[in-house]
Amino acid sequence: MMLMIFFILTLISHVSGHDACPKCGSIEVPYPLSTNENCGDPRYKVFCNNDILQFHSAEDFSYNIISINPSAYKLVISPPSIPKNTCYSSDFSFGGFRLNDDSPFNISTHNTVMLFNCSDNILLSPLNCSSTSFCRQFEEKVQAGSGCAGTLCCHFLKDSAMTSHRIRVRDGGCTAYTCVVDLNPGDTTDSWNYGIELQWLPPN
Ligand SMILES: *[C@@H]1O[C@H](CO)[C@@H](O)[C@H](O)[C@H]1NC(C)=O
Ligand SMILES: *[C@@H]1O[C@H](CO)[C@@H](O)[C@H](O)[C@H]1NC(C)=O
Ligand SMILES: *[C@@H]1O[C@H](CO)[C@@H](O)[C@H](O)[C@H]1NC(C)=O
Repeated sequence: MMLMIFFILTLISHVSGHDACPKCGSIEVPYPLSTNENCGDPRYKVFCNNDILQFHSAEDFSYNIISINPSAYKLVISPPSIPKNTCYSSDFSFGGFRLNDDSPFNISTHNTVMLFNCSDNILLSPLNCSSTSFCRQFEEKVQAGSGCAGTLCCHFLKDSAMTSHRIRVRDGGCTAYTCVVDLNPGDTTDSWNYGIELQWLPPN
């Protein structure tokens, strides 16, 4: 019986042909995510840094991974912080978040991106910068009294109309952003689920 189970397990691991990486701290690292070249699929590179699992943008800025849903091919990373009394995302000097064009990951359509401290010319783009935009609630409730409060802000829903590989910040555009996953219009800011949801192409 044990032998049979052994054979079946061997068969399964042979068919899938790949091993998952060891845990990073207490976090499971499911296949195809890869923390080193001996496990996972190296195209799906993530980093285990002092027991914290991280994802790197094309510019090599690191974002902590908050959750992983391997059966839905999704993971959620933490949006960059906005240092106190400024309105610059911590990834500002990298231009925000960007994935390489050939990355198997993309920014999923479940994200609501909020941009802050935007310049007027951004109003011409297809963003929602109205006084009822979600970003107003963030400025009034979360960032009240801090750097982004009162700045021109906008939000957009990630959909196919926008690139799924980039969230851009720059001087003369918008200088800070945050992102909420599965935001419903009635949700109060306390229940917002901050994160950037990434989806990956299943390996063949
Ligand atoms: C907002 O952005 C402008 C440049 O577009 C910058 O000069 C200003 O310092 C920013 N505001 C804050 C509070 O960081
Ligand atoms: C902007 O977003 C708010 C909140 O979802 C919505 O109520 C409003 O209709 C939107 N405005 C435009 C111009 O799309
Ligand atoms: C992201 O990738 C997934 C899997 O390849 C695909 O189904 C989805 O349409 C892509 N989403 C966007 C916004 O490009």
